[in-house]
Amino acid sequence: MNLDLKISNKMKSFQLANESSPLSVTPNNFILPESKRPNHSEVKSLDSIPIIDLSYSHDNNPPSLEVIHKISKACEEFGFFQVVNHGVPEQVCHKMMKAITNLFELPSEERESLYSTDHTKSVRFLNYYLKVEGGEKIKCWSECFSHPWYPIDDTISLLPEKIRTQYREAFTEYAKEIGSLVRRLLGLISIGLGLEEDCLLKKLGEQPRQRAQANFYPPCPDPELTMGLTEHTDLNALTVLLQSEVSGLQVNKDGKWISVPFVPNAFVINLADQIQVLSNGRYKSVLHRAVTNNVSQRVSMAMFYGPSVDNTVGPIQVLIDEEHPPKYRNYRFSEFLEEFFKQEGRRRMVKEAFELPNEN
Ligand code: OGA
Ligand code: NI
Repeated sequence: MNLDLKISNKMKSFQLANESSPLSVTPNNFILPESKRPNHSEVKSLDSIPIIDLSYSHDNNPPSLEVIHKISKACEEFGFFQVVNHGVPEQVCHKMMKAITNLFELPSEERESLYSTDHTKSVRFLNYYLKVEGGEKIKCWSECFSHPWYPIDDTISLLPEKIRTQYREAFTEYAKEIGSLVRRLLGLISIGLGLEEDCLLKKLGEQPRQRAQANFYPPCPDPELTMGLTEHTDLNALTVLLQSEVSGLQVNKDGKWISVPFVPNAFVINLADQIQVLSNGRYKSVLHRAVTNNVSQRVSMAMFYGPSVDNTVGPIQVLIDEEHPPKYRNYRFSEFLEEFFKQEGRRRMVKEAFELPNEN
């Protein structure tokens, strides 16, 4: 495994909000069965996902065909890419990362008051897990803080006073910037699919489901036995991820795992399940996971942009023809969410439930 690590001085052990003692050894309920461990499957470190320069956008020029082509190719081949020169000020990202780090440095009792296993709670700390054979739950070596983009004050009011102002300021600025970046990316992706520039944005609707998830991965004494986040695809349409200097994200490419290195001032962009469906399977929502390491803590911020809950999602009409019959049936996004939450720790992949039978 090629982990590009930076030595951190924060090796003090971390206590998850729902655990009774600090994580200085690896408890059994975090140890994955052999077949689910990170090294079980080969990790390729030579090539990684494409890095795409978006600098055209600074001077309001129309995107070059080259950028559109690169994005389209990345979407077809990887479902993932990184963007640089995206126009989001470095300071805004830095403040966001600092605010998240402070959040997870709160005493575990303070985080525990917001910890919940109930997915209907819109603001919560949570701990993902994998349900293995026999129904046993194996926890992920991470803690997440999940909340909506708007209205941010509903999230803020639940946070302890000492970090409220900082989180509100950091997130408000950050969300605005990421909102514009997402709209720009959806435009580029639409053009790449041969659609009108505003096609995907319109399809996703006027009240997109927008959620933020801060992920915190403490150092783990036994990274080969645990996982920060087990393999999954994202259920929304497009995800924008900001990661700290420590790498850990891996993306599945043709059955092999490739590491996503930390690139300064870059965002990792990934297509999620709804774009796979909207593009009638041309663009894939790819499996990814986060591994742990025994040296440094890692933080990341995932911004999920999805359809309006009441919107109907299905393959876009112009992408359907005789050669490309519809692969999915139309559904309401609320139906998809319902199916997703039924999974309960087993497989975070539900697209298959909406697949149409292949008639050829
Ligand atoms: C996620 C995710 C990866 C990471 O939050 O869905 O895949 O590197 N995160 O934190
Ligand atoms: Ni993800």
